[in-house]
Amino acid sequence: PTGSPRLTVIGTGYLGATHAICMAVLGFEVVGVDVDQSKIDKLSSGEVPFFEPGLPELLAKALESGRLRFTTSFQEAGAFGDVHFVCVGTPQQPGSDAADLTYVEAAVRGLAPYLDRRALVVGKSTVPVGTAKRLTGILHDLAPAGTDVELAWNPEFLREGFAVDDTMRPDRLVFGVASDWAEERLRAAFKPVLDLGTPVVRTDLATSELVKVAANSFLATKISYINAMAEVCEAVGADIKDLADSLALDDRIGGKFLKPGLGFGGGCLPKDIRAFAHRAEEIGVGQAVSFLRHVDDINRRRRARTVDLVREVLGGQISGKRIAAWGAAFKPNSDDIRDAPALDVARTMHGLGGHVRVYDPAALDNARRSFPELRYGESALDVARDADVVVLLTEWADFREIEPDALARVVQHKRIVDGRHALDATQWRAAGWEYRALGRS
Ligand code: UDX
Repeated sequence: PTGSPRLTVIGTGYLGATHAICMAVLGFEVVGVDVDQSKIDKLSSGEVPFFEPGLPELLAKALESGRLRFTTSFQEAGAFGDVHFVCVGTPQQPGSDAADLTYVEAAVRGLAPYLDRRALVVGKSTVPVGTAKRLTGILHDLAPAGTDVELAWNPEFLREGFAVDDTMRPDRLVFGVASDWAEERLRAAFKPVLDLGTPVVRTDLATSELVKVAANSFLATKISYINAMAEVCEAVGADIKDLADSLALDDRIGGKFLKPGLGFGGGCLPKDIRAFAHRAEEIGVGQAVSFLRHVDDINRRRRARTVDLVREVLGGQISGKRIAAWGAAFKPNSDDIRDAPALDVARTMHGLGGHVRVYDPAALDNARRSFPELRYGESALDVARDADVVVLLTEWADFREIEPDALARVVQHKRIVDGRHALDATQWRAAGWEYRALGRS
């Protein structure tokens, strides 16, 4: 677009790289900034440093257009950009539930000294409510242009595996702003997306920070709700799958994020609900969201109960048994193993003396690097060789496509524990398998 703002994206991790690439493809001039030279080198040479369908092709396209480049220099970013997106991570602090704001602060402090004309800094990272206000003060203090530099917040809702689509065609855009000028700048920086009719919510900074954690808390709560119902089903021999299907048909409830199983993991949901609960306590409204502690507890219990079910299927003993673990990523179509329920279960079974072998279609390298003590194999059938039980932990389509008879030829015992309700129980039982899943008789 002509006359459109020049964009920088600070932090070229999952969120930042996706945002920078997509914005360049949409026609903006973009500079991506990161303190990690190896990331910058990779991206500059056309390599996406993580797994995300469709993104490598778009990176090639963006680099070819000449509209996208990467640098480690804040000075270059400050001189170039009109709108600066802050996309760095806010991980959970070690030994605490609070979010670690080191990177967000470092990004703002690194950039600010080079902001010598009117500019907008836009936070996209997930932060505790109140952070934007504090960062505004830092910006005004450190930027040569002073209060001519404004801060806005624009939370990001993208899902791994759908990052491109979620960026190009989001459900909504939330603009947390302190002035009309900031809103106008944001509208210009998202013009191609807005032209698709994307709804915008304009609000204040605090509300925009809260929208993100409120959304993720809701999603986590929905998953833990159905998993709590699964626990009840387990106690009475009822069927959680039929129960969930029945609830899903009520369109006030809906079927999304209502899939029972091993529960949620990943780099967002678990840490976001903890950081939110922690922040709420700090500001004196801990009681209002104390249910999030239960949401977390229910979710963690899924992992323990899955191990219990495997033990039961193995006749009370995990030690010495050969166990095929299907899946390592926290969800399918991802190589992300952060807080992955699958690896948690695999490691627990290993710790109990089980001979666990893990296979995942995309996350194997990451898993190997982080957990060298586990054993790995090159395919779903490979790890199932001579197994006493096969345990499905991440619902990759690859696993669903495996024929019960083909698997039967390699295993020692025809036992399968479906931790994600991904398989057709009737089909597996008809083929002579002992099929077990939590919350199903
Ligand atoms: C999530 C939010 O969806 C996204 O909007 C936000 O920006 C970042 O956090 P993501 O972490 O990529 O995205 O994964 P998501 O697809 O939401 O899945 C989260 C976890 O919940 C996965 O471990 C998944 O297996 C689990 N899940 C999801 C369930 O157990 N049941 C469900 O019904 C849905």
